[in-house]
Amino acid sequence: MTDPVAISGVAKAPPCTLVIFGAEGDLTHRLLMPALYNLATLSRLDDGFQVLGIDRTQASTEDWANDLTATLEGFTQDHTAEFHPDTIDAAAWGFVRQRLTYTQGDFSDPALFQTLARRLTGNALFYLAVPARLFGPLVTSLGAAGLLAEADGRFRRVLIEKPFGCDLPSAEALNAQCLAAATEDQIFRIDHFMGKEAAQNLLPFRAATPVFEALWHRDAIDHVEITAAETVGVEARGAFYEQTGALRDMVPNHLFTLLSMLAMDLPDTLTADAVRDAKSRLLGAIAPIAPADCVRGQYETGTVLGKPARAYRAEPGVAADSDTETYVALKLGIDTWRWQGVPFYIRTGKHLAARRTEMIVHFRSPARALFGEARAPTVLGLEIDPEPGGWLAIGQKAPGLGLRLASGEMRFQLDGPGPHASRDGYEGIFHGAMCGDRLLFQRADAIEAGWAAVQPILTAPPPLAIYPSGTAGPDEAASLLARQGHAWRPLA
Ligand code: BG6
Repeated sequence: MTDPVAISGVAKAPPCTLVIFGAEGDLTHRLLMPALYNLATLSRLDDGFQVLGIDRTQASTEDWANDLTATLEGFTQDHTAEFHPDTIDAAAWGFVRQRLTYTQGDFSDPALFQTLARRLTGNALFYLAVPARLFGPLVTSLGAAGLLAEADGRFRRVLIEKPFGCDLPSAEALNAQCLAAATEDQIFRIDHFMGKEAAQNLLPFRAATPVFEALWHRDAIDHVEITAAETVGVEARGAFYEQTGALRDMVPNHLFTLLSMLAMDLPDTLTADAVRDAKSRLLGAIAPIAPADCVRGQYETGTVLGKPARAYRAEPGVAADSDTETYVALKLGIDTWRWQGVPFYIRTGKHLAARRTEMIVHFRSPARALFGEARAPTVLGLEIDPEPGGWLAIGQKAPGLGLRLASGEMRFQLDGPGPHASRDGYEGIFHGAMCGDRLLFQRADAIEAGWAAVQPILTAPPPLAIYPSGTAGPDEAASLLARQGHAWRPLA
């Protein structure tokens, strides 16, 4: 198979130092290093690339590099990991490994930033793989030490993971704090869903396939479902999740990213700002969500994928009377000419019956029922995870005598074999940040528009419904759609 990277002429990243705050953490091990390794296998990293890991632990560069190597090699044995190559290419990992340096540092100590300022002279990316409460202070410290000054053609960029705020006021405050130390163009807010092949595919799919774009509006589309169902529970993240819940964790960020890529007006060009303008406009047009259009659920005991599962309230770090939701379903409307009156249903939850992230577009029925009672609804499924691809449910002739209607399906698949198969999405995120391509990153206005849309239900959350682990979620979520004669696509 031809390497799509080679044929698309994707540039080699310019030389830079990647400074990782939180070098010992899970994110660095599980996602960042595999992505750097993958970029090395694709020869997209410059010889002048360096990685400077910083964390509180006392360790040598050798210790850190050995630790990362062991984790990477461990993934070859773990087929449940996002990154699971058969083997690690010694040359590619060697390229990254020999560029690693570790420094012990206290993120609250100004001396750390002074040392960094003396040490770093050229291009630098500062990656904040740290708890969210440290984002603002770290950006302020970087600014105060002059580390964000872009002189002599060098770039200085900050990569910030979610959660970017926990409601509208906190997101506005964090944006203000970041923008006091750096320009908007220097802040790269990551939503890892934009790193997913299938999320990026929405632009080529829509813009290059006029048959869909011609029908992409209220006259042809009846309603849309967006689902991010997970079988995992909160695992070791109980304490974090207690303060967060499914709504904050998934909706204004990941699911609104998918929603905006699906429903925005197509940009006229592929510049980052044209795409981000279109996304922000769409998110800004979401009508305030009424608490009556929201269902919150929490998992109790049950069976997930054949194994007994404990209740959320029995998870470590979770209160015995917790009111935190592990499931949320919403009905929302978009106040634009294109989408007026089209319900968009969004749901996400943990300990559900299946792992599936998908968008389902239900087209309107034909004007006449030529085949009597028989129906073959036209439905487009856009699959994000676990397998990126999609299908179109169509009407076709039932085999055999007579002209009877049956349902058929056309399918497409996105992933091919080769190095792309074990990508975790962070390759594009790093590559974009190194090259200064902001297309995959969230602009301040989109972040705030997302929080503004969910703020009414954060302010007045509806009561919690309990659902057994391993099911499709609470019955109330089915009722939310049944009111309009709709139903969720079954999960399993
Ligand atoms: C993270 C959330 O941002 O996204 C997790 O904090 C969630 O709770 C995860 O499990 C889902 O991402 P993915 O790529 O596994 O679908």
